[in-house]
Amino acid sequence: MEWKVTQKPLTQLAVDGIVVLHTEGGEADGEDVKEVDEVLDFRISRLIADGETTGKYGEITLLHTWDKIPAKRVFVLGLGKAEELDVDRLRQGFAIVARKAEERGLKHLGIALPASFAAEKNAADLVQAAVEGVELGAYRYRGYKGDSREASLTSIFLSLSDLSRSGVEAGLERGKVFARATNLARTWVNEPANRLTPAALADQAAEVAKRNGLKVDILDEQRIEEMRMGGLLAVSQGSAQPPRMIVLSYFGAPESQEVLGLVGKGITFDSGGLQVKPAKSMNGMKDDMAGAAAVIAAMEGIGTLKPHSNVIAVVPACENSVDGKSYRPGDVIQSFSGKTIEIEHTDAEGRLILADALAYARRLGATRLVDVATLTGAIVVALGREVTGLMTNEASWGEEVKTAARLAGERVWELPMVPEYEEWLRSSVADLKNHGGISEAGAIQGAAFLKQFVEETPWVHLDIAGTAYFNKTKGIHSEGGTGVGVRTLIQLAIRFAGR
Ligand code: BES
Ligand code: ZN
Ligand code: ZN
Repeated sequence: MEWKVTQKPLTQLAVDGIVVLHTEGGEADGEDVKEVDEVLDFRISRLIADGETTGKYGEITLLHTWDKIPAKRVFVLGLGKAEELDVDRLRQGFAIVARKAEERGLKHLGIALPASFAAEKNAADLVQAAVEGVELGAYRYRGYKGDSREASLTSIFLSLSDLSRSGVEAGLERGKVFARATNLARTWVNEPANRLTPAALADQAAEVAKRNGLKVDILDEQRIEEMRMGGLLAVSQGSAQPPRMIVLSYFGAPESQEVLGLVGKGITFDSGGLQVKPAKSMNGMKDDMAGAAAVIAAMEGIGTLKPHSNVIAVVPACENSVDGKSYRPGDVIQSFSGKTIEIEHTDAEGRLILADALAYARRLGATRLVDVATLTGAIVVALGREVTGLMTNEASWGEEVKTAARLAGERVWELPMVPEYEEWLRSSVADLKNHGGISEAGAIQGAAFLKQFVEETPWVHLDIAGTAYFNKTKGIHSEGGTGVGVRTLIQLAIRFAGR
């Protein structure tokens, strides 16, 4: 999709459709609406007067222009009440229109930003949100259907009269990069586990590195063995798919000692292992690499935007499968950190591979850590599908990640790290066990386990088990992988500059 900034008003664009914005309860008196309304003989005003168009948030009214202007159609997009309008709603709104346009097979679209709104907000933020909305809304996973057609939207004209030019350029660049990285992660999550194997995920990461000039190191099974990454080895030993430890590095601030370490859970399929999941809970477990997807896709965005910061991504990738070679409950393994772990549950596999990856990221020089993982069913119970769980061992680093998430338009909520719960992880035969064997505070238990492997390094854990996959098409989401975490991580790397 190509973006073109133009000074021309919407009424002069020769496109398949233009989008005008309308707030609830208002007249057709916003600058852009007014102009379009006038050339269309006040048809928009009539629709509003007759209650056909209300401006309710997410409402779309489609009008044909009957050659009164070069554009063929007008989408009147409802943005809800003016006082409730924010960049998140703008992003969602544009996503809804873009999807409609894509479904209709339109090629060229003209959009503008609400002038009233533009006055009070930063131009870059507004443009970024609009661009993200269009790119995220138009996204569709192509899959493997014989009759799957090409994407239709090819060019978007952004009609802007009085926004600051530099702000517009910055917002446009960020919007494109944030959204395309998100869509990349979505596609990986949507890929079935027979196609997106650990090795295939590593290939994707290598391509990201190549496209963006990042350093890449992919540890194969032999090197993982040599490095004694016992967690990754134990989980992968029951699968025909060999594991990978994927490392991407970007050094945009070579003079700085600070290194942001991003770690993502890359279980390409989670059967539960020998303590196998019930049939229904196993469906959808191809998404258990969504944390890995978020981290690798964020590196694509970081590599493109090139912030003044250092970032390394460490992604353990393997499959948790059932086999005569599978690891068992009661097994004792040794993680990369040297700590021994008693296996209490083979379905609590994510934390075992993350333990190796977190310790390895520290070894590689990470001074601050964020992990992203579809770690627990418990977080879905606690926070549902709209909010990611956040846990941390250092409050100020937690606040920094919350700020990045807020700026990125992703919702997170903190759960407390309760020291008492760490006692559940005591084992009589090893340094710790991977689960307390009780079902209380499951999400915090997961974090409590990971915490043992970050030592004193400031660390944030994002549990995206609820937010990685959306079952319906709505707003910026289309059914499937959401790409959650990508925009937060890119934003974090940008804010990390200058540390
Ligand atoms: N991959 C799952 C967590 C998950 C659940 C992701 C639902 C997405 C949707 C994780 O590996 C897992 O199986 N967790 C178990 C842990 C338990 C057995 C200790 C869980 O949450 O039930
Ligand atoms: Zn599991
Ligand atoms: Zn899992």
